[in-house]
Amino acid sequence: MKAVVYKGPRDVVVNNVPDAKIEKPTDVLVKITTTNICGSDLHMYEGRTSVEKGKIFGHENLGVVIEAGTAVERVKVGDRVCLPFNISCGYCENCERGLTGFCLTANPGNAGAAYGYAGMGPYNGGQAELLRVPYADFNCLVLPPGAEEKENDYVMLSDIFPTGYHATRLAGLQPGDSVVIYGAGPVGLMAAMSARIQGASKIMVVDTHKDRLALAEKIGAIPIDDTDQSGVDQILTHTDGHGADCGCECVGYQCCNRAGHEVPNLTMNNLVASVKATGGIGVVGVFMPEDPGAVDELAKKGQLAFNFGEFFTKGQRIGTGQCNVKLYNRNLAKLIAAGKANPSMIVSHELPLDQAADGYANFDARKDGWTKVVLKPGK
Ligand SMILES: NC(=O)c1ccc[n+]([C@@H]2O[C@H](COP(=O)([O-])OP(=O)(O)OC[C@H]3O[C@@H](n4cnc5c(N)ncnc54)[C@H](O)[C@@H]3O)[C@@H](O)[C@H]2O)c1
Ligand SMILES: [Zn+2]
Ligand SMILES: [Zn+2]
Repeated sequence: MKAVVYKGPRDVVVNNVPDAKIEKPTDVLVKITTTNICGSDLHMYEGRTSVEKGKIFGHENLGVVIEAGTAVERVKVGDRVCLPFNISCGYCENCERGLTGFCLTANPGNAGAAYGYAGMGPYNGGQAELLRVPYADFNCLVLPPGAEEKENDYVMLSDIFPTGYHATRLAGLQPGDSVVIYGAGPVGLMAAMSARIQGASKIMVVDTHKDRLALAEKIGAIPIDDTDQSGVDQILTHTDGHGADCGCECVGYQCCNRAGHEVPNLTMNNLVASVKATGGIGVVGVFMPEDPGAVDELAKKGQLAFNFGEFFTKGQRIGTGQCNVKLYNRNLAKLIAAGKANPSMIVSHELPLDQAADGYANFDARKDGWTKVVLKPGK
């Protein structure tokens, strides 16, 4: 089969590799029809993780089941399925509580497994023609009839739509609340859409990229361009000096100042400054336990110079971590089916798998107009 293989920093190629296959009776084999490039892939692409050369990337996957293991009972050959990026068993202590992003079975010795990702277990990704799906009865979201026409919407259920939603839940958003979202990448835009769905009164999205801010505005958010003027000051102006009721971090450890230089503590300290006293902060942007390629000594050790005193004095709360996709994907799918959510509106480029390297280079450069890339292995 053809697959997107990591060769080294800023170097991915589409190679012929051995076909993915059923390895355990609880697996299914999926023929991938849509698979996205994610901001999380860029951390690996840029050489800022420990991912091994030869890894097949791709954790935002949708396709059709073409073979089922002998122990699979619910999922059938021919089902069109969207796969949560988390691989989870369904029966461990964390999965039982719905915390499938922290499964204790799928990546022994760690909490959490994923397709094609650094440190998330031996699983290959789905930027390929075929994908092996473990614990298939638990992990597959079987899509309704007609899903093919909204495939670019449904594929967002694999990660960014639930992840954006998770950011708002970690932040404790309530109907009527104002919310500030740092990052207008795909995740931040999905957090904005999720906040709208939940009845936020004011949604403010901070970034420097005009194409991304334009999408935020289309979603119903106030775009906050902090290229020339402090984003924090603008949020305070929009909230009578008090700060937003809650806030979301949708950037992660490679966050930058307006000159494009990495400042690892920037978004976290900006959140403390622009969320009101007692407000909640949801952090889904990825932070790493170590980052040898970081710009400062603290960040190399996975540490931040965090304004903890201000955070404490304001009585704020923080929730963090990988999204438990299965907590949300079934209900968010119903919103897509009902026409009440259209996450595909952020897709800028639909490419055949063969053009994946081009897609990576442009999305990584945050080139104007490259807001979300979906790959179509069958085309
Ligand atoms: N927790 C999870 O489950 C989960 C799932 C998916 C993605 N992620 C993470 O979410 C983050 C965002 O993903 P994405 O796909 O949207 O990536 P992306 O890189 O396309 O978007 C990040 C955006 O943040 C902006 N940005 C950079 N510095 C900023 C700053 N100081 N203030 C405001 N905006 C700033 C960039 O201009 C960019 O538009 C990444 O860290 C990714 O790994 C986490
Ligand atoms: Zn992703
Ligand atoms: Zn589990």
